[in-house]
Amino acid sequence: MQTLGVDLGVNSYPIWVGDGLLADPSAGGALLRAHLRGNQCVVVSNDTVAPLYMDALLACLSQPGVNADLVVDQFLLPDGEAYKTLDNFTSLLDFLLARKHNRGTTVIALGGGVVGDLAGFAAASYQRGVNFIQVPTTLLAQVDSSVGGKTAVNHPLGKNMIGAFYQPRCVLIDTSTLASLSERDYLAGLAEVLKYGVIYDGAFFNWLEDNQTKLVAREPEVLRHAIVESCRIKALVVAEDEREQGLRAILNYGHTFGHALENLAGYGTLRHGEAVAIGMVQAADFAARLGLFAQVDAQRVKALIARVGLPVAPGAELAADDLVAAMALDKKTIDGTLHFVLPSAIGTVAVHDINTDAQIKALKETLGSGALLCEEALQAGVTV
Ligand code: NAD
Ligand code: GLY
Repeated sequence: MQTLGVDLGVNSYPIWVGDGLLADPSAGGALLRAHLRGNQCVVVSNDTVAPLYMDALLACLSQPGVNADLVVDQFLLPDGEAYKTLDNFTSLLDFLLARKHNRGTTVIALGGGVVGDLAGFAAASYQRGVNFIQVPTTLLAQVDSSVGGKTAVNHPLGKNMIGAFYQPRCVLIDTSTLASLSERDYLAGLAEVLKYGVIYDGAFFNWLEDNQTKLVAREPEVLRHAIVESCRIKALVVAEDEREQGLRAILNYGHTFGHALENLAGYGTLRHGEAVAIGMVQAADFAARLGLFAQVDAQRVKALIARVGLPVAPGAELAADDLVAAMALDKKTIDGTLHFVLPSAIGTVAVHDINTDAQIKALKETLGSGALLCEEALQAGVTV
C-alpha cells in the first residue's frame, strides 16, 4: 500500500492506494476506524456498485477496533449521471433525517464520481457539514473526483452547478475494484490520467506513451503507478489552491469543451471522461490554431488519446454556435469572457481569456472542423 497526503493544514488527509484493501477487512477496517466518528454512518452507493463491494466495506466497518455500536445505514442511488440531481440529493438528506443521523455521523461514498459528488455535497450540507470518507471504485474517481473536495449535483442548465468545496477525511483506493469496471468506464478514467501528463508533467506523459498498451490492459503495476502519480499531482495542485483561485484551474483542461459537449449531448450520453478526452483534443487543436502550442505536440496529445481507444471527436455533428452558447454557461465563464486552459508545451498549461474576434473565429473553426479523426492523427507522422 502507498500513502499520499493532501496537505491542507487542519483539513489535511491521507490517500491510501493498495490492491485488495477492501477485500482484506482487517486492513480496510484498520485504515477507516481512525476516521469514523460517533456511532452512526451511512454508506452511499448505487445499484451497480453495492452488489459488488458493499459487503466487503461492511466487513471492514465491523472489524474489532471499529466502534462496536456503529450503526451502518445504506442509501443506494440508481446508476448514472442522470441521477446526480438535486432531487436525489434531497432524498439522501430526507433519509438521514428520517434515520435520525446526528452531527457526529459519517457519510461514506462507495462508487464512482457520481456517487462521490452527490454524497460529498450531502455531507457538506447535512447539519452544516458532517464527516465524509471517499471509497472510489472507478478509475476516474480514484485519480480525480475523490481527491480535492469538489462536490456537486447537476442542474438542467449546467453541469455541477450546485455544490460545495468539502474535503473528505480520507480516501481509500482499492485498485482491485477496477477489475469489474467496464472497458468504456475504465477508458473514461484514463482520460483524466492522460490529462495530468499534459497539464503538469511532461515526463509522466512520456511514460504514459511508453506504457499505453499495458495501461489499457490494466497491468497492475503500471495501473498502480498511474493512479499514484495522478493522485500525487492532484494533491499538489489542490494543496496549492484548494478553492480554485488560480493554479487549480489547470485541472479543468479539456473541461470547457467537455462540459459543453456533455450538456448538449444530454447527461449520461457521453461519459464525463469521454467528453474530457474530446475536450482535450479540441483544446490542443485550439491552442495550436492560436499559435500557442506546436502542431506536432497537439498531434501527440490527439494520437495518445486515440490510441488508448478514447474518442477524439463528438460522434454527432454539434453546431459550433450551440457549443459556444453552452460554454458561456460554464462556471469558467466570467463576465461574458470565455476562459480556456490551453497548453504551451506538454506538461505546461495556462488559463487564457478568449474574447477577441480572431480568437472566437479560431474557436469556431476548432469546433466546426471537428477534431482530427483517429486515423488522421495516427497518419500525421506522430511517433508515440
Ligand atoms: P460513474 O460514477 O457514473 O461510474 C461509471 C460507471 O461505473 C457507473 O455505471 C457505475 O455504477 C460503475 N461502477 C463504478 N464502480 C464500478 C466497479 N468497480 N465495477 C463496475 N462498475 C462500477 O462515473 P465516473 O466516471 O466515476 O464519474 C463521473 C462523475 O464524476 C461526473 O459526474 C463528473 O462530473 C464527476 N467528476 C467530479 C470531479 C470532482 O473533482 N469532484 C472530477 C471529475 C469528475
Ligand atoms: N476535476 C477538477 C478539480 O478537481 O478541480
